[in-house]
Amino acid sequence: MASSKPRNARRRKLAAAIFFLALISSVSARLNPSELPAADIRRRSGSPDRPARWGPPRKRDGGVPLVISNQCPDPIWPAIGTQAGTGAGTGGFLLSPGTSRSLTVGSDWQGRVWGRTNCSFNVAGNGASNLNGHNGAGAACVTGDCNGVLSCVVTGDTPVTLAEFDLAGGVGNKQTFYDISLVDGYNLPLGITYIPSQAADLVDIPPNLTNPACIATAGLLLQPAMSGTLGNSSNSSYPIPYESTQTSAKVASWCPWDLQVKRPTKPGDGVYPYPNDNIQRPIFDPCFSACAKTNSPSDCCTGTYNTPQVCKPTLYSTAAKLVCPDAYSYAYDDQTSTFIVPSGGGWQITFCPLGRSTNILKTFKKQLDALSQGVPDLRALQQAARNLTLIDEAGTENHGGRSRGERLRGASLCALVVVLAWAVLW
Ligand SMILES: *[C@@H]1O[C@H](CO)[C@@H](O)[C@H](O)[C@H]1NC(C)=O
Ligand SMILES: *[C@@H]1O[C@H](CO)[C@@H](O)[C@H](O)[C@H]1NC(C)=O
Ligand SMILES: *[C@@H]1O[C@H](CO)[C@@H](O)[C@H](O)[C@H]1NC(C)=O
Ligand SMILES: *[C@@H]1O[C@H](CO)[C@@H](O)[C@H](O)[C@H]1NC(C)=O
Ligand SMILES: *[C@@H]1O[C@H](CO)[C@@H](O)[C@H](O)[C@H]1NC(C)=O
Repeated sequence: MASSKPRNARRRKLAAAIFFLALISSVSARLNPSELPAADIRRRSGSPDRPARWGPPRKRDGGVPLVISNQCPDPIWPAIGTQAGTGAGTGGFLLSPGTSRSLTVGSDWQGRVWGRTNCSFNVAGNGASNLNGHNGAGAACVTGDCNGVLSCVVTGDTPVTLAEFDLAGGVGNKQTFYDISLVDGYNLPLGITYIPSQAADLVDIPPNLTNPACIATAGLLLQPAMSGTLGNSSNSSYPIPYESTQTSAKVASWCPWDLQVKRPTKPGDGVYPYPNDNIQRPIFDPCFSACAKTNSPSDCCTGTYNTPQVCKPTLYSTAAKLVCPDAYSYAYDDQTSTFIVPSGGGWQITFCPLGRSTNILKTFKKQLDALSQGVPDLRALQQAARNLTLIDEAGTENHGGRSRGERLRGASLCALVVVLAWAVLW
């Protein structure tokens, strides 16, 4: 009898502890929902159940349109890398100014598209030409080169602006994750446009929610404006939120001086005056990311820097985020960088799109979340997008670091120990 009271109290404490614990884990599971679409696609690459195949897709692979357009004043050589699923059947080609090429990838495709500049290939396309000063060896392109071949089989040399896709992400592989990434640097302005799905059960998603652009090249930027489709709000049928502060002059010098691929030659005395920004920069001014340039753990968020708490944005990523708010600027720039929509539609990648950088993810966060809840079945998908465990498990990390889910489980374990200790010892 004497011992029953403390035992009851202990039991109540244990129950309270368990309740408290459940509360902690439910709170931690909902922590920072904006962080959840943490799908930096490089960290989710190489799903073993979706081996990479060259393509093009056969009928049973499902066909997703992938249209690549060049609105640049110069020819570019788009490149396509396949990390998982069925690719387009080509790794790259020449695209003249003002032209487009329509391709198809499998509905399970995961990969990236980038642009190569100033290329000169030999006739067979399997190496550099003699024109680039390398006597037919070495790189064929000034940026984005992939071992000198026209049809890339490996990823491109940095710096490149990337369009990244996972067409079969999320629960049941029914969501498309995509982003514009400046994590490997910047070479060309790039825009991604959703091509509406023919499927009746998919909503016709407004383009103001789905079409990010990153324009960080002077001379290709329209006037500052809060919204619009062509640089100002004169077209109000689909107002797209824009980054509204950059001007051509500002954009001309966003790249930190040391990270320019081709720094202007030193003035007469060989010493750079300070600040360097008074020196005229080239119009085509590709920019290494800090990580691409130094490859150091602190710039690349690797090694002991492999957590968002420790790995902070560099000067480069801060500047990149200002000129391109919708783009990934460094490895842990998860909050406002990934788009998630129901799979089904196709994708157009435009180099040098007309307009301005978009600011969609920040502006329309609520709507983008709601987008996945708007039609039957999408609620479950949205839940999946919020499921840390699932996203983390899909996001097999290449760096060998702990996933966010593991970190959370670690935190929960700590909480368990603390709470149980309190319950038992109090
Ligand atoms: C290199 O490519 C860029 C972008 O297409 C272009 O602006 C520049 O004029 C090219 N340079 C040369 C030497 O062709
Ligand atoms: C809006 O666009 C029109 C047509 O391109 C242009 O004439 C006008 O100056 C622009 N307005 C602003 C505020 O940028
Ligand atoms: C406005 O933009 C939409 C979507 O791009 C286009 O279909 C429409 O024709 C444009 N309207 C005007 C008046 O330019
Ligand atoms: C996007 O464009 C549509 C069509 O004009 C409009 O109804 C909507 O309010 C815009 N913004 C958002 C967040 O949906
Ligand atoms: C979250 O994902 C994990 C792993 O796929 C799964 O086991 C779990 O049931 C999911 N939870 C919810 C609430 O969907």
